[in-house]
Amino acid sequence: MKKKIIANFKMNQTIQESKAYFTKLISKFENDKIELIVCPPFTSISIANFFARGTSIKIGGQNLSDEEIGGQTGEISAKMLKDAGVEYVIIGHSERRTKFKENNLVINKKIKTALKTGLKPILCVGETVSEKIAGKTVEVLRKQVEEGIRGLYENELESLIIAYEPVWAIGTGKFASVKDIEDGCNIVRKAIQDLYSDKAGRDICVIYGGGLNSVNSGKILMAKGIDGGLFGKSSLDVDSFVSILNKIK
Ligand code: PGA
Repeated sequence: MKKKIIANFKMNQTIQESKAYFTKLISKFENDKIELIVCPPFTSISIANFFARGTSIKIGGQNLSDEEIGGQTGEISAKMLKDAGVEYVIIGHSERRTKFKENNLVINKKIKTALKTGLKPILCVGETVSEKIAGKTVEVLRKQVEEGIRGLYENELESLIIAYEPVWAIGTGKFASVKDIEDGCNIVRKAIQDLYSDKAGRDICVIYGGGLNSVNSGKILMAKGIDGGLFGKSSLDVDSFVSILNKIK
């Protein structure tokens, strides 16, 4: 299976900046061992999709509404994302769980809405530093996985990516060790195995995110049971990001 590499621009990049980014990305990115999914802000999705058309690069959204239509000022629906050329969507990122108070119930609704519309959800899970210190990592991750995907059929897991992102390692300058990462991803796999089957636990796409950069990504992406990576800050500079991407084996 190709490694899934996700670039999450968060609230960065105007349309003009995205144009310049994609022009370089398209001309320099060359690695058929990975599937690259770029998630720009909503305003840059159209231009990103324009550039990505005819290449192997896929476009993702960073969020979507849990409702399908109607009085949801400021929200964006699954249908709108799909219409704009989006194939994947990040759901339950820790920044949304914390700042926008998204709980597992809302996240579950978003996942179902995405799947119903033909979008592939990237579910983010991860423990905070206090939960880690209190020894609650297993409990927290299992709950986020179980409640996040409650009601999904086993065959729907094929369209799902789960990103293990310890909150304490996202944009903080603190780095998770390879052991922390393997342990976290194993907890996620085991939860899927217990909820569905051994096969589902083996096949589920589990990636890692949090502080990935040019120094640590090679080792982390080769670690056992890691199917890819989610890059935030390190994806913003196209030159250095492309050099990371082109080295992934
Ligand atoms: P980071 O962000 O790579 O800047 O830590 C990761 C993320 O968006 O989850």
